[in-house]
Amino acid sequence: MTLTITNIKRIHADQSESITIENGKIKGWNLAPEGDTIDGQDATIAPAFLELHAHLREPGQEQKEDLASGLAAAAAGGYGTVVCMPNTSPVIDQPELVRALIAKATGLGQARLRPSAALTRGQQGDQLAELALLREAGAVMFTDDGRTNENARILRLGLEYAASLGLPVSVHAEDATLRAGGVMNEGPVSEALGLPGNPAAAEAARVARDLELCRLTGAHLHIQHLSTARALQLVREAKQAGVNVTCEVCPHHLLLTDESLRGFDTLYKVAPPLRTRADTQALLEGLQDGTVDCIATDHAPHTRAEKELDMLQAPFGIPSIEVAFALMYTHFEAQLGLPKLVDLLTAGAAQVMKWPAPTLDTGAPADLVLLDLHTERTVNPTEFKSKAKFSPWAGERLRGWPVLTVVDGKVAYRRE
Ligand code: DOR
Repeated sequence: MTLTITNIKRIHADQSESITIENGKIKGWNLAPEGDTIDGQDATIAPAFLELHAHLREPGQEQKEDLASGLAAAAAGGYGTVVCMPNTSPVIDQPELVRALIAKATGLGQARLRPSAALTRGQQGDQLAELALLREAGAVMFTDDGRTNENARILRLGLEYAASLGLPVSVHAEDATLRAGGVMNEGPVSEALGLPGNPAAAEAARVARDLELCRLTGAHLHIQHLSTARALQLVREAKQAGVNVTCEVCPHHLLLTDESLRGFDTLYKVAPPLRTRADTQALLEGLQDGTVDCIATDHAPHTRAEKELDMLQAPFGIPSIEVAFALMYTHFEAQLGLPKLVDLLTAGAAQVMKWPAPTLDTGAPADLVLLDLHTERTVNPTEFKSKAKFSPWAGERLRGWPVLTVVDGKVAYRRE
């Protein structure tokens, strides 16, 4: 199959160009148009984004999301590849489950799926899963995300085992005993609302421990969804000391604070919790100085009914995969610049996985996104491909919308 996309601009280039794609690869730039032709309407072209942290809920929680809706949502967000989380029902801790997910996703023609698998059996934290068999089945990362790893010895063994297989372990770093029943950041806002708080120290204490395990083993540890200035500083110092650690931050932790919870709206209930303005500022600095390796969304869909429970009972999670780039571009283009922003969603994430950096060079895999950087549109969750049709940013005017996503040379998303 051949496809030519005309009238596109590379990042920070003025001239209009065209790209031709054939058999899943980039055939070349500015060739005579061949095959189907799409007018790019002056959009900016970038490699398709890479998501290292999304909850797609399959198997077993398809009322929240499934592969079809989640991967369509990802493609609409400009993502070509998604690493999904294993906190499903059953937990993805068996090679057959990994194989079944990959097989199912392959037929969907949406974003490509690269599943992570549980580090421990049932994500119970006390026995390692069969990591070698999981890797053989196609798992690309091991994590008990959604849960914390309380047993340091098991995490140490998991790090060593995963390192011998050349794969990273990623962790949801919160000390569960300190977090206890906290449903939001501990501080003046939680005190004013009378809600149980989760202190910043729960994250910092766990990150400190996990960095020691990383030092001890030399294995690659990836820290998910950092939310606090303190934990970020620990990662910064560890990186300076040569520790083999990488980390991600999420749009909601960069944009929102615990002030959003004053209306008791569970849309803002997420783990780790929204913190303070000082934390969001520190995370932005972490992006600027390279301490943070990539942006991941932690797209965490739930049903409307679940999110309508009260603040104590509603599940944690914010769905954001369809708006992540527009949010980041609208709010942080001035501070980060477009090339860095795209890097954090492409090469930065690929580097965490030790995958080749995505490029738009001739011969490269045809995974690309066209971005309309100019048209302002209102976030309208009823139009989401995700089953979670709600968003903290509903009604917000954003710029930087993906208009076309091509995966493996095929159109996975095109804005109507
Ligand atoms: O807010 C969250 N939601 N944080 C997690 O760690 C898990 C996730 C989920 O699975 O809903």
